[in-house]
Amino acid sequence: MSKQTIAVLDFGSQYTQVIARRIRECQVHSRIYSHKVSAETLRADGVRGVILSGGPASVRAKGSPRPDAAVFTLGVPVLGICYGVQLMGEMLGGKVAGSGHREYGHGTLNFRAGSDLLHGIRGPLRVWNSHGDKVARLPRGFRAVASTENSEHALIEDSKRQFFGIQFHPEVAHSERGMDILRNFLFRICRCKADWVMDDYVATAVADIRRQVGKAHVILGLSGGVDSSVAAALIQKAIGSQLTCVFVDNGLLRLGEREQVERMFRGRFKVNLRVVDASKAFLGKLRGVQDPERKRKVIGHEFIRVFDSEVRKIRSKTKVEFLAQGTLYPDIIESISIDGNPAATIKSHHNVGGLPKRMKLRLLEPLRELFKDEVRALGEALGLPREMVWRHPFPGPGLAVRVCGDITPERLDILRKADAIFIDELRKSGQYDKVWQAFAVFLPVRTVGVMGDERTYDHVCALRAVTSSDAMTADWAHLPYEVLRKASSRIINEVKGFNRVCYDISSKPPSTIEWE
Ligand code: XMP
Repeated sequence: MSKQTIAVLDFGSQYTQVIARRIRECQVHSRIYSHKVSAETLRADGVRGVILSGGPASVRAKGSPRPDAAVFTLGVPVLGICYGVQLMGEMLGGKVAGSGHREYGHGTLNFRAGSDLLHGIRGPLRVWNSHGDKVARLPRGFRAVASTENSEHALIEDSKRQFFGIQFHPEVAHSERGMDILRNFLFRICRCKADWVMDDYVATAVADIRRQVGKAHVILGLSGGVDSSVAAALIQKAIGSQLTCVFVDNGLLRLGEREQVERMFRGRFKVNLRVVDASKAFLGKLRGVQDPERKRKVIGHEFIRVFDSEVRKIRSKTKVEFLAQGTLYPDIIESISIDGNPAATIKSHHNVGGLPKRMKLRLLEPLRELFKDEVRALGEALGLPREMVWRHPFPGPGLAVRVCGDITPERLDILRKADAIFIDELRKSGQYDKVWQAFAVFLPVRTVGVMGDERTYDHVCALRAVTSSDAMTADWAHLPYEVLRKASSRIINEVKGFNRVCYDISSKPPSTIEWE
């Protein structure tokens, strides 16, 4: 364990992971512990500082979660955030009271005294609050350093014992200079060095996976997307032949996708890879299905059936006990709502819905603490090629939701070719990395054209490219006309089946990114 570790004790706040991420951004190693962790464990792990996270409970309620009281005798700095500061107030001899109403949203932080936490920062600051209780009387040794309209003790400290408390949330982007406050805690107060890099994360993650899995066998549904690819490369590094990846070709993949996955994982990463060609089964089940939601359901069910039957065929030395998934932190907490009620936005999410229960497998989710950009950095550290790591998102139901209406092998073929041309032109012109997602859509509409001296009556290809930061909202990408011209001209000339190309200029909302 690194001497530089900052322990984040989790009291159930959805911001706990955000705190850990902010610390990683400062290149300091952080580890999230259950709030029940013993001070002995923290001492043995050599932690450099402790952060008590926020949480939904009230310290005044019976049975509300508490840390080991000995955390305050470890001799390392302790920072309480929100619920964490109230714990300090309650456990160190002060008094916590209900504030009469929830303080929710922005407040103005006025500085009243100097503090190492505020070093180099000038007030007042706009800070973001979300709490019902507040520290009404400070514990002995503490003083108030800054206050907001509603909270006299918005930032408190006992500089002798190196205990600090913050009533607002410095970790969210909505708190001005919040990162600088955290930086002061890490570098001025805990005296950490900024020396933690992604390679260190790989080493820690590999050790964690080995510990969790032991000698058991792990299976992973590889889709070729960023998340499952990074998870596969990481788990392979940790346990090698104890991992089997299953790649299901559902007939709805992009041009050359299956070959690319085979080359990469079987060839370069030496992964046990089972490729199942289930395209006939999927396309058979989808015949005549036009409704987008019905398409998704059919594909979901079929995937479970195929995956399940493939896993039964695995003859590993040890029992298959784990199902690995590339679940990310934002999949677990889909959106961290700043304006709405945080608890209301929490949505549990499984990439392969229904599988673990049915197969009686335990879940292995080595990316669950990471955000998308961190997963990409991890992928690069593991040696995955840039094109794979920075690939645009691709929906689970694949091209099924990009062939509007009836899905046929011919339509899929036509679409694949056009899509590959569009992506090729975006890459060549340097636009690919500037957009969130770009793709072609097959429209079941035929229009008249003229090619040479002949009349054509073919289908329409829609091109869609959007900018976005999280797919929740998106704008159509203002691509240069020249790029659109080239893509359109190549598609019409090279792809038999399309004689017209349109560019989608709708934003989300009110439209969605995909057409179905
Ligand atoms: P929409 O079309 O809802 O898409 O604006 C938002 C993001 O989600 C992707 N998407 C899906 N991903 N299964 C998935 O795994 C699906 O059924 C699905 N539908 C949409 C879409 O590509 C975009 O990135």
